[in-house]
Amino acid sequence: MDKFVIRGGEPLLGTVHISGAKNAALPCMAAALLTDQPVILENVPQVRDIQTTRNLLAAMGAEVELGYGRAHHRTSIHCASLNSPEASYELVKTMRASTLVLGPLVARCGRARVSLPGGCAIGARPIDLHIKGLERLGAKINQEHGYVEATAARLKGGEVVFDKITVTGTEDLLMAATLADGETILENCAREPEVGDLADLLNKMGARIEGAGTPTIRVKGVAKLNGARHRIIPDRIEAGTFLIAGAMTGGDLNIAGCDPTHLQAVISKLHEVGVKTRSNGDSVRVMGDNPFSAADMGTEEFPGFPTDCQAQFIALATQAEGTSIITENIFENRFMHALEMVRMGGNIKIEGRRAIVRGKTPLSAAAVLASDLRASASLVLAALVADGETIIDRVYHIDRGYERIEEKLKDVGAQIKRIGEMFPKKAVAAK
Ligand code: EPU
Repeated sequence: MDKFVIRGGEPLLGTVHISGAKNAALPCMAAALLTDQPVILENVPQVRDIQTTRNLLAAMGAEVELGYGRAHHRTSIHCASLNSPEASYELVKTMRASTLVLGPLVARCGRARVSLPGGCAIGARPIDLHIKGLERLGAKINQEHGYVEATAARLKGGEVVFDKITVTGTEDLLMAATLADGETILENCAREPEVGDLADLLNKMGARIEGAGTPTIRVKGVAKLNGARHRIIPDRIEAGTFLIAGAMTGGDLNIAGCDPTHLQAVISKLHEVGVKTRSNGDSVRVMGDNPFSAADMGTEEFPGFPTDCQAQFIALATQAEGTSIITENIFENRFMHALEMVRMGGNIKIEGRRAIVRGKTPLSAAAVLASDLRASASLVLAALVADGETIIDRVYHIDRGYERIEEKLKDVGAQIKRIGEMFPKKAVAAK
């Protein structure tokens, strides 16, 4: 298992280029299931979850081609025929977003069999809202042996009101509704930019969707969708992570190739604590040359502060003057990183859904364990300001969603290296 070794203390200086958004690419790849023609996606990040999705689609009978050389961010998906409309437990357990295939499969093939995701390191990950929504569109649902099976000769348009805002739930139903008979109205939808990106792709494929990016989305079902070519939007969470990294390390970092309009909540919070930023077209410069102060923060659905940047904000709060109260409103168990930061010297108390962070505390290097994707990113940030060499174990979590993060960090002055297993099991056994 790979580890990162990070020597803290260097300000990040220079320009970092943002990759395509993993959480937009995943539903767009699933959307290729809706047509027998090729869908060509550009700006797809080279991260583990994308590879898992390629494997998932290939296992169903899709031809999946990865561009090479300078086109290595292109993925073509051709689902001419789908012989096995199923997502197995083996794949779903490593990536819960695999459930995104449920809606498109039942819409295109009339049946789908997808493993139930169960919980994970950030809390329960139910898909009851996906299931309820599909039932509203006429699918028959059967749950047994840890799998959900959906069948429908043809889905029928209807009204779906989500009890709670769900990002992949909105995306799943949006895809299903494109091929349904008649009009579907989705209410209380997620407004995340990734939903808008998916709707843009679907409309290019011939779907008739209006209102993506608002709480109400209307879809007029069509009989067939076509292939399309689409460029994935920039990853706002990767951009937010680097913005916070630039601020924390006292750096001067230009975050290039991002969409500042998707980053407003993070940028406003940075301004509130006293960090200066300047947006210019598709880049944001962060100048971390001032001491900064504490601020309370609560995660919310878009356009609020993203839960996927909460862990990184806690790392920042350990370096702020004063006490910050951080409330996690989306997931019930998303503070594992805080306990690791305490081992590095952070003064953080967890009370239910709140983390109380008292700054400013010097952080000292330690051996720490990454528990999920964004938790790993926050430990990297903490290590960048810690005194000494931090070793972060289980960085496979970070590889799920950040493309070449250590190379990007190295290019702007961080001292970071990736190492393999330090004491391979065989060598120890041979002694
Ligand atoms: N929820 C339900 N029932 C459902 C679906 C969701 O109760 O059927 C609850 C969840 O338990 C949670 C809340 O609704 O409390 C919101 O969950 P949501 O469905 O929006 O999360 P998701 O779609 O599974 C996506 C991202 C996550 C991100 C969340 C919140 C993808 C592939 N994943 O997950 O990203 O944290 O939205 O913004 O888009 C990450 O990239 O690290 C990541 C975890």
